[in-house]
Amino acid sequence: MCGIVGYIGHRDAYPVIIKGLQRLEYRGYDSAGVTLFDGENIHLAKTKGKVEDLKYKAETSIPTKGKLGLGHTRWATHGVPNDVNSHPHYSNSGDLVIIHNGIIENYGSIKQALIKRGYTFESDTDTEVLINLIEEVKKKEGVKLGHAVQIALNQVVGAYAIAVFDKNKPDEIVVAKLGSPLAIGIGENEYFIASDASPFIEFTNNAVYLEDEEMAIVRIGKEIKLRKIKDDSIAYPNILELQLNLEEIEKGGYDHFMLKEIYEQPKAIQDTYRGRLLADKGIVKMSGIDQNLEKFLNANRIIIVACGTSWHAGLVAEYIFEDMARIPVEVEYASEFRYRNPVITEKDVLIAISQSGETADTLAAIKLAKEKGAFVFGVCNVVGSSIARETHAGAYTHAGPEIGVASTKAFTTQITVLTLIALKLAQEKGTLSQSKYHEYLAELEAVPTKVEKALLSNALVEEISETYKDSSNCLYLGRGYNFPVALEGALKLKEISYIHAEGYPAAEMKHGPIALIDEHMPVVVIATKKGHYEKVVSNIQEIKSRKGRIIAIVTEGDKAVKELADHVIEVPETSEGLSPLLTTIPLQLLSYHIAVMRGCNVDQPRNLAKSVTVE
Ligand code: F6R
Repeated sequence: MCGIVGYIGHRDAYPVIIKGLQRLEYRGYDSAGVTLFDGENIHLAKTKGKVEDLKYKAETSIPTKGKLGLGHTRWATHGVPNDVNSHPHYSNSGDLVIIHNGIIENYGSIKQALIKRGYTFESDTDTEVLINLIEEVKKKEGVKLGHAVQIALNQVVGAYAIAVFDKNKPDEIVVAKLGSPLAIGIGENEYFIASDASPFIEFTNNAVYLEDEEMAIVRIGKEIKLRKIKDDSIAYPNILELQLNLEEIEKGGYDHFMLKEIYEQPKAIQDTYRGRLLADKGIVKMSGIDQNLEKFLNANRIIIVACGTSWHAGLVAEYIFEDMARIPVEVEYASEFRYRNPVITEKDVLIAISQSGETADTLAAIKLAKEKGAFVFGVCNVVGSSIARETHAGAYTHAGPEIGVASTKAFTTQITVLTLIALKLAQEKGTLSQSKYHEYLAELEAVPTKVEKALLSNALVEEISETYKDSSNCLYLGRGYNFPVALEGALKLKEISYIHAEGYPAAEMKHGPIALIDEHMPVVVIATKKGHYEKVVSNIQEIKSRKGRIIAIVTEGDKAVKELADHVIEVPETSEGLSPLLTTIPLQLLSYHIAVMRGCNVDQPRNLAKSVTVE
């Protein structure tokens, strides 16, 4: 939920940290801060607001010099977003500095004990408690910083990715991880620390991702040393060569990351099926499935867990798996699943879907399912993420970095991966006719070109957005495969434009939502040709006769809906099961344009963060 960046080496730390924070701002953007050590003193600038505000404050209030520094961009958990609660935090002596992403759950009792022993606190944060606990341990036990961090962490309950330094020993930074991500970039006589690799990608391709319950001491001129927090045993760093490149994490001429990512979908979908879908040979090849085929084929059922947009992809997958592979599927909000004592058996396969691979509730659901003996498969975008590591096997979506907080290409690539899995299982089980199976493979291969065509509706969608930008409410309706798309369309609109929006299965309208319809209510209806078309047309008529304003997503060449709807947006025809990959495109564009016209911060909507690493 927060982003952390640290640097120690031969460069000026400040520009590395500020640029790094800008790249991590998707993780949290209610306040930010930076501390620099200039060789003699430490200097601190922190502020409520964005990294841009921090940049102004730092450059007008402190010397931005020094080869060692820590920075933080925050999504508040304990304590409101304000200057004082922003990180970095200092210990009472002023010697130790910390940045932290996560939550220390037992911070209240530790704080009370520290207060009794004379410690004072400026902020309301759990992080300031942790740094003072580290300081107390260091003084009482007479140990070095690394050891003090380790002892303190063994006393806390919660989640953390932390970086700590001592101004009296400015050649090292101590880092530790449990539950929140932490990457260390290894350069020539320099180290970078960050929540993901984007802050240091132009400096080094070599990185180590800490595992849970690991800590490291990064010291100038020394190799990185890793150890286990619990038992002090040595851990060996697995140095990875990163594939990320700079263009992927920059806007590339688009006004917003969200728009760039919407337009990247043809390529992203192609990257997702590249090497996996061999349509001419009639084969789907996925190592994570091939190596665990029996688990899937013998499964009593598949349970899908996810949150938000990923949960919507899971709902689409429910239709796909049941329809194509005839395997019963249950789709669960990870946050509910983990706390409701679910019945899980060794014959269950659990699929966890997550763009970031860091969502705390999804991770907890995975751990629960593993404890009960289920086979757990991950569908993640971020390579090396916690969920990718925690699952027994998995398939990456290969969408490339998604930086806009509203998920777009992650959704369509998740559906692509899940479709490939369903097709693979359908072929193994013989649950799809050969003609249908081959039709699906060919159609899936054609999806990127069809998404390109769907994107041509952009100008029309922008025009329609002008008409509805001041609406207060909006209803989204769809049926079958496109019911989850209606939910996703509504989520996209509400999260970035702050217009209240709800998605419903079209036939449910009569059971309540129809009461909302009048001439002020825009209703977005997904009415593509395959998939209960006539029934949806009847629903449109019902809305029309109550004066609702209809924006319909239709198949190219449609005539009947055109007669009834106020606006129609065409998408190319495809197989019913693949239609969400196309119908979702104009809905993403609609929410994007409306949000821009309302002056909203599209890439960083209020109160949200890209990676929800707290429950
Ligand atoms: C909405 C959105 C969120 C995420 C949700 C799960 O646009 O981005 O609803 O889908 O927070 O995140 P991941 O997929 O990273 O687990």
